[in-house]
Amino acid sequence: MKFTIAVDGPAAAGKGTIAKALAAHFGFAHLDTGLLYRAVGVQALHDGRGVIDTAWAGELARRFTEADMQRTDLRTARAGQAASKVAALPEVRSALLEFQKRFARREGGAVLDGRDIGTVICPAAEAKLFVTAADTVRAERRRAELPGSPELATVLADLRARDARDAERDVAPMVAAEDALLLDTTDLSINAAVAQAIAHVQERLQGGG
Ligand code: C5P
Repeated sequence: MKFTIAVDGPAAAGKGTIAKALAAHFGFAHLDTGLLYRAVGVQALHDGRGVIDTAWAGELARRFTEADMQRTDLRTARAGQAASKVAALPEVRSALLEFQKRFARREGGAVLDGRDIGTVICPAAEAKLFVTAADTVRAERRRAELPGSPELATVLADLRARDARDAERDVAPMVAAEDALLLDTTDLSINAAVAQAIAHVQERLQGGG
């Protein structure tokens, strides 16, 4: 059985939590596609050649393997910023396309969360969600996850910079697919958001429109 759930949206809106809960509920495999861009971004930084060196970042993306996602330094704000820079490069996106497409169509069902899953990676996904929330609420949530209690204003500025870069880039900009269920989690508990997401996917699994 092949069934793809695409979960897109900006950082810290809850899409990772929702994607994981959907995967657990339906017994599907889960891929956090942000980790691919984070892995390439961090390697580009570590190699000291700058994340905007198009050719080098493209080469790193072509060399990408699943093991790169196991690095322990991918969840930092620095990795997030580096990811959103390399993610704007067409060479990087095209090198990472095949891995994601294959994952999406694997046997047994797949949940992918990211920015362009429902629009570019898997436009034919059987179920699509676009998860969003007010940026101030997202900044609060992200701050709680980050080590060292950073200033809220710093976290908010970081999120806004990434949102702008992700939404304004030429290739695969972050945008809700027309047929995605919009889930605004600003005033929703995580349990309520997950329940709505499960109900939507259940309907799609049963062939509902
Ligand atoms: O989701 P996460 O915050 O880990 O993503 C890090 C960055 O990777 C995003 O800001 C975005 O620039 C990029 N990304 C992307 N497309 C995806 C997933 C992530 O461009 N499908």
